[in-house]
Amino acid sequence: MTTILALESSCDETSVAVLRLDDSLDGVGMAPAEVLANVVSSQVDIHARFGGVVPEVASRAHLEMLEAVIGEALETADIDPSGIDAVAATCGPGLIGALLVGVSAAKALALAWGVPYIGVNHMEGHLFATFLEKPDIELPMVVLLVSGGHTMLVHVIEPGCYAILGSTVDDAAGEAFDKVARYLDLGYPGGPAIDRLAANGNREAVKFPRGMIDEGLDFSFSGMKTAVINFVRRHPQVNDEDLSASFQEAVVDVLVEKTMRAVSQTGARSAALGGGVAANSRLRERFAEAASAAGIDYLVPSRAYCTDNAAMIAAAGQWRLKAYGPTGLDGGANPGLRLVS
Ligand code: KG4
Ligand code: ZN
Repeated sequence: MTTILALESSCDETSVAVLRLDDSLDGVGMAPAEVLANVVSSQVDIHARFGGVVPEVASRAHLEMLEAVIGEALETADIDPSGIDAVAATCGPGLIGALLVGVSAAKALALAWGVPYIGVNHMEGHLFATFLEKPDIELPMVVLLVSGGHTMLVHVIEPGCYAILGSTVDDAAGEAFDKVARYLDLGYPGGPAIDRLAANGNREAVKFPRGMIDEGLDFSFSGMKTAVINFVRRHPQVNDEDLSASFQEAVVDVLVEKTMRAVSQTGARSAALGGGVAANSRLRERFAEAASAAGIDYLVPSRAYCTDNAAMIAAAGQWRLKAYGPTGLDGGANPGLRLVS
């Protein structure tokens, strides 16, 4: 058994998790794991009045919260530091100041506790959310990673071996949700607000364009966002429910269509969702329908493992430690860290 403590502080969630893994099994996959704690302290309320994440405010808030969140995770896991075998932290991509808070704390803890440190790529963490809940999912797999900063289709050949099949040429899907919500004055973050309003709206009320839907595996959401803004200017009386449902349907149409296209082009045996936008109700429903109609293995992760959390960082960290060994204590943070170099 290996018990790993992980920190996630790349954006606006301060999260600490404790994961216990049964790593007695051999193989390239991830070991079955038990999440003993996954504490997430969100800064959403702090950033809401600015309409988005303010990087300097985020770093300070991480610094203020981290010690308490670590304490709460250890308490929830009912474990003391002598029971921790390794410490992981997100080392990129993300906001540099925010990343440095987590990386520095993780290295200090590893040094003090005499255990290895592992720097983890945040996007690889999102991929590992799938293995956390379904370690035996069939490979190769296509994962649609959709967050506030990224939109990409990743071909997971095996853990550690990835190819980017497509990505956004402009806004990320979450960014489009956030910008439309901001224009409509729905608050921040916009995705959950649009999701809630859409539940009572007519998805066919407005036929918005489906950006690049017939073209390959790349995405474009900027035109869809502009189409919503232009429509509201011309029809100020339109209600937010219908608008949200119609916009959400357009985004989901594109995401699901391209994910299934990637599955058929690669011959993948499974598919999964990851990232904050994967918490979207309509995307979850439509993706599950499409994957099950295609007869492939699939996973719609729990919402808690879609949005930023440290359990997924612990899962990726455990695998990295086993496959490549510890990260040196001179390892820094890289705001532009890529999944595939
Ligand atoms: O992965 P994440 O927590 O942070 C990043 O790494 O970016 O994703 C945050 C993004 C935000 O843009 C937020 O609006 C979006 O995920 N999001 C949603 C939903 N919940 C969060 N978008 C659509 N529907 C949701 N239910
Ligand atoms: Zn994320």
